[in-house]
Amino acid sequence: MTNLDLYAKAEHLLGIEEATQVLHDIYKSQLKNYNIKTLLDVGCGNGSFIQVLSNNGIKCKGIDLSQVMVGECISKGLDVECIDIADIDNKYDAIVCIFDVLNFMDKNSLLKFLDAISNRLKDDGVFIADINTLYGFSEVADGTMSVDTENEFLSIDAEFLNNELHTKLTLFQKEGNQYAKFQDTIIQFFHKIKIFKNLENLKLIDNRSFSLYDDDDKTLLIFKKDTTPKKLNNFI
Ligand SMILES: C[S@@+](CC[C@H](N)C(=O)[O-])C[C@H]1O[C@@H](n2cnc3c(N)ncnc32)[C@H](O)[C@@H]1O
Repeated sequence: MTNLDLYAKAEHLLGIEEATQVLHDIYKSQLKNYNIKTLLDVGCGNGSFIQVLSNNGIKCKGIDLSQVMVGECISKGLDVECIDIADIDNKYDAIVCIFDVLNFMDKNSLLKFLDAISNRLKDDGVFIADINTLYGFSEVADGTMSVDTENEFLSIDAEFLNNELHTKLTLFQKEGNQYAKFQDTIIQFFHKIKIFKNLENLKLIDNRSFSLYDDDDKTLLIFKKDTTPKKLNNFI
């Protein structure tokens, strides 16, 4: 089991349903500004975002690196695969990365990932993502919590240091008369907006901080594919 699979097993205990709903509504209202027939949700998690959009007539595909998340989506009848963005074939009118997905990558992986995103975007396509602000990491995500239910116990110990959030998850799940223990650490990375302003194939057209849990804890990033010929680009 990977650390992303452990996150998938523990997510229902985190109490983030309401925040997820608010975030999904922000994406839906942004997407209304574009003519979208096909959408790729990268890091789709349990598929709740594409489930709603598919019901509204948009052809949606999801991908996620957690097999546990993908299994949950498939059981809901959604078109979801456990595959890296670099191995996807089709092109889409819109691509989204919702709820900190970009923070799961360090800077080098992120730049490769964004390049793969631009390759999978149609020429007039839009890419929307959100990232944690420095405040979101240091004041909201940093800290400890525990959740105790009849059959499960989860403890979370998150420390933000040197622009990295190290979150240690420990999950006990009742199996018969015993408890199975799962433990792993997820690392998330703070990214400065500057990184997103100098991309070769994606043009940042809007970025705005907003408050999901607390003051300005997230930033929404909206990109269009940059189709300016590369040689011309060097002179602009
Ligand atoms: C915080 S969850 C958000 C899930 C979903 N987007 C939502 O709005 O509820 C982050 C998800 O990103 C996935 N993930 C992280 N890095 C990824 C990558 N490089 N490619 C695809 N999925 C990734 C994780 O497995 C996890 O399901």
